[in-house]
Amino acid sequence: MEVDMRKLIAGMKISVDGKIEAPDRGADWVEAWSEDYGLTSQIDACLLGAGMYPGYEQYWTGIQNEPSKPAWITGNAPTTAELEWARFIKQTPHYVLSSKLTSAAWPNTSFLRTVEEIQALKHQRGKDIYLIGGARTTASLIDAGLVDELRLIVYPLIAGEGKTLFENREHRHPL
Ligand SMILES: NC(=O)c1ccc[n+]([C@@H]2O[C@H](COP(=O)([O-])OP(=O)(O)OC[C@H]3O[C@@H](n4cnc5c(N)ncnc54)[C@H](OP(=O)(O)O)[C@@H]3O)[C@@H](O)[C@H]2O)c1
Repeated sequence: MEVDMRKLIAGMKISVDGKIEAPDRGADWVEAWSEDYGLTSQIDACLLGAGMYPGYEQYWTGIQNEPSKPAWITGNAPTTAELEWARFIKQTPHYVLSSKLTSAAWPNTSFLRTVEEIQALKHQRGKDIYLIGGARTTASLIDAGLVDELRLIVYPLIAGEGKTLFENREHRHPL
């Protein structure tokens, strides 16, 4: 009997010209870093790259510990959606793709060393998996054929100089 595989769903907030962040300023057009893709009810695990994990952990730990203070990065009081996400991720397993990182402050965080381990995770029982980022991880997992859905929120802005999701990709890749 064929078992349904969990989907790996990537979400990204991009500018009209496809930038995910500006040099030295990050994605300062993003006013809140909540999960805004409508995924929360269908997922029970999150996956991130080693590049963004430490900052992610720091950002959401700040909101979990001091929900009424301005959040790091945005400088704004956390939104209702950010507070909900901060609560949700406290009890949700997080997987970090990394060959180097070995420890995390959150007890629900563990490490994956290879793309094959992500394939194995997709075969485990469970709900879908949210691929939070960052750019290199998302692009490499799309290249590896592991991403089932890509949800983009396009902000009304031409960012100009900045990092794209698909740096140095020269070949067409149907999605
Ligand atoms: N606009 C948005 O919605 C959005 C969302 C999320 C993130 N971001 C941006 O993305 C940036 C972070 O992205 P990033 O590209 O610098 O880093 P990243 O994708 O978070 O992490 C890259 C690291 O992940 C590991 N990795 C990635 N692919 C791998 C593979 N196929 N096999 C094994 N390990 C792999 C490697 O870590 P090791 O060196 O440990 O092996 C690599 O150095 C942040 O600046 C953030 O602003 C934007």
